[in-house]
Amino acid sequence: MPAVRTAVMPVAGLGTRFLPVTKAVPKEMLPIGDRPCIEYVVAEAVAAGIERIVFVSSRGKDALVDYFDRSPALEAHLREAGKVDLLAEVLRVAKMAEVVSVRQGEALGLGHAVLTAAPAVGNEPFAVLLGDDVVDAQVPAIGQLIAAGAASGAEAVVALMEVPRADTRRYGVCAGTFEQPGRMRVRAMVEKPEPEVAPSNFAIVGRYVLPARIFEVLRHTPRGRGGEIQLTDAIAVLAAEGAVIGEVFAGQRFDTGDLLGLLRASLHFSAKRPELRAGVDAMVQELLRGDIGR
Ligand code: UTP
Repeated sequence: MPAVRTAVMPVAGLGTRFLPVTKAVPKEMLPIGDRPCIEYVVAEAVAAGIERIVFVSSRGKDALVDYFDRSPALEAHLREAGKVDLLAEVLRVAKMAEVVSVRQGEALGLGHAVLTAAPAVGNEPFAVLLGDDVVDAQVPAIGQLIAAGAASGAEAVVALMEVPRADTRRYGVCAGTFEQPGRMRVRAMVEKPEPEVAPSNFAIVGRYVLPARIFEVLRHTPRGRGGEIQLTDAIAVLAAEGAVIGEVFAGQRFDTGDLLGLLRASLHFSAKRPELRAGVDAMVQELLRGDIGR
């Protein structure tokens, strides 16, 4: 597999689970502490050696692209005020990666969003990271997938997470056989199966490594569940050829597309910061005593 240099991040969804705030703020810009969710995802990609980020964006999502852009007026203000630490922080974000954005005119599904990125990706393998799956891991999750693809020779890699069987209806679930611990040769994928009919309890998390030929498959993928062009339907075509593996990645995953998931991520990352830890612990005690949240 040639080097994976580009990551596609689809951020054009409507974010209905976070309405009304997502009327005006993209859900990927909701904060975990003092950083938007998407920064954690971009940081993961950069740490895995990705050089270019392609945001698949839509109307009303300019804040997201602006966030990774330079901000000359703000930088000048911070420089004149001698706020060097804040200036460094603002510049750090703007220099994280080369950012390109393409527009998905209509939210026709994740598969359609990835297809929209085709001209910006070109004819090489690429990564896809979903902005509402935040993973805290020692080795970046997408890097684990890239390494698994290189080691196995598989054309496509999806991230897998073991979930309680009762939860399969919330995920895309893989069928296949483990060819080594933690690595499944995927035969088929089922979107949101009921627990009784789910082929396994290994769910797909929002990280993928895909070959450029997925674009051709997507062009011929009919609208599936919910009238949307589903990425899993296209990957399933490759899976039927034996070209897909599922890698159970090491790391903690947070579903920040969900209100409690976002809160959990905020607690996790805040508790890891030495300057915030005592405050977080005190707050949890207050909650348990019933002093807050009554
Ligand atoms: P989701 O279904 O989780 O996102 O899609 P959503 O539709 O924005 O959120 P809810 O369910 O209404 O709250 C997974 C990812 O795919 C992107 C979303 O932005 C999200 O990151 N997506 C989805 C697109 O870019 N375009 C689409 O047409 C659909």
